[in-house]
Amino acid sequence: MGQTIAIISALQQEQAGLLALMPGQQPERLAGREFWRGQLHGHQVIAVLSGIGKVAAATTTAVLMERFQPQQLIFTGVAGGIADGVAVGDIVVGSSYLQHDMDASPLFPRHELPGYGRSRLAADPALLALLQQAAEQAIAWLPQQLDPATRSAFGLHAPRVHAGKIITGDRFVATAAESHALRAELAAALAVDMESAAVAQVCHDYGVPFCAVRTISDRADDQAHVDFPAFLQQVARHYSGRMLEVALSLL
Ligand code: ADE
Repeated sequence: MGQTIAIISALQQEQAGLLALMPGQQPERLAGREFWRGQLHGHQVIAVLSGIGKVAAATTTAVLMERFQPQQLIFTGVAGGIADGVAVGDIVVGSSYLQHDMDASPLFPRHELPGYGRSRLAADPALLALLQQAAEQAIAWLPQQLDPATRSAFGLHAPRVHAGKIITGDRFVATAAESHALRAELAAALAVDMESAAVAQVCHDYGVPFCAVRTISDRADDQAHVDFPAFLQQVARHYSGRMLEVALSLL
């Protein structure tokens, strides 16, 4: 048997795709979460839903570490596109993670994690490269899984893979004004979510390699509250299962 890989999904729809690839598994209930053990491409896989927001995601990750001791951790979910050119349906693989709502100033510089001496945490380089490769492979055929009307409704004609900074906070960003403010403050941020940087911090504490891969569900603008649920309903469930299968086959 290969390594133990933890896969945290943000969405039930995404987790369903993964669990379908690992038949016969049994969940273990801890801290109100269901941890699913299974096997995929010769690896032991532990699949769990993160919960929404930084605290829920950090609790999930800490329980995973203590109970299952994974050797690597992958997060899959959706995110709001922040940078120009990061469109709905694109995939962002996080090379670094920052909590945009962390602010212990003036005691520490804005965004710095107190006690860590830095504001950004890096993805594991090998896992980043692997997920980029899996995303590049998957993006070629993912839109073909959708019917043409859905593809057109979401403009999913030539989706792209990006690697770069993901920012995280306990806020669903749903106005263009806030998105622009985040972009102005945190140059080079590609996408915003509510969990990745929290999971990155727990992985850092435990010394476990981490990387997050996020499909863009909305542009974190005034349309986000409409685009986000529509994307979850109609598109997201087709995305992560196969991409993860490709990733684990490459591991
Ligand atoms: N996840 C998906 N879209 C998001 C947004 N607009 N803000 C925060 N998290 C998100």
